Amino acid sequence: MDNWLYDEFKHCGVDYSNAGEAERYDDQHRRFRDYEKEFREMMDFLGIRDTKDKTVVDLGCGTGATSVFAADLFKTVYAVDVSAVMIEKARKKIDRGVHNIRFVNAGFLSYEHEGEPADLVITKAALHHLPDFWKQVALLRINTMLKMGGMLYIHDVVFHFDPHEYDGRINSWISGFEKTAGKEFRLEVETHIRDEYSTFDWIMKGIVEKAGFTVEKSRSDDGFVTEYACRKVRELNCRNRQGQA
Ligand SMILES: C[S@@+](CC[C@H](N)C(=O)[O-])C[C@H]1O[C@@H](n2cnc3c(N)ncnc32)[C@H](O)[C@@H]1O
Repeated sequence: MDNWLYDEFKHCGVDYSNAGEAERYDDQHRRFRDYEKEFREMMDFLGIRDTKDKTVVDLGCGTGATSVFAADLFKTVYAVDVSAVMIEKARKKIDRGVHNIRFVNAGFLSYEHEGEPADLVITKAALHHLPDFWKQVALLRINTMLKMGGMLYIHDVVFHFDPHEYDGRINSWISGFEKTAGKEFRLEVETHIRDEYSTFDWIMKGIVEKAGFTVEKSRSDDGFVTEYACRKVRELNCRNRQGQA
């Protein structure tokens, strides 16, 4: 293996490979999130209907905030994460009779999609774990997982402010989060900004387009948390890490 490859299993910022972190995750996030409502709003935003024959890949699935609801609607769900303990939390939410969800302990840079090409790839609050160069590589790889015309949904913290305003804008966003989710979460958001790799909206749109997608829609209520609905419009002739076309 090339020595210059990014090690996506070595967590930057919050260490989701830590069992205590996985244990705390849902309690902490439910203070400001309603997973089911988020799922419904995402589906409305994407305008995807007739899901029963469709395949979805959830990259950075975590404790299953999206995958668990997707399993009710889609034919097959691939729930992928670099953290085995986060996957374990997600797995425990799945009823015994549900067989259409496959958990894979891999990441943006290592997951090899082997089923039929996906109709939808979702990545929620996860892409910022990669520096921009590796986000671009991840997006190229996502292109190869999808059918032509398939959708990519990105939900992440992305910066919309003018670069010179960074100080005030980041401080007021963090203070707002503290009011909603408490002091403990303030520390997590500080870690996010300091040690993880959120990027600017114009960079995100640029790398998405370079990877063969068009951004059909994007929205952000607070100028930070942002959703992108992207459609695959170009087949890429790129090679994966095994050197296959
Ligand atoms: C903030 S959590 C989001 C989890 C879930 N998507 C949600 O909406 O709650 C970030 C997740 O991304 C995962 N992650 C970090 N780097 C990753 C990578 N390179 N590939 C895939 N998942 C990654 C972490 O293990 C963690 O489960």
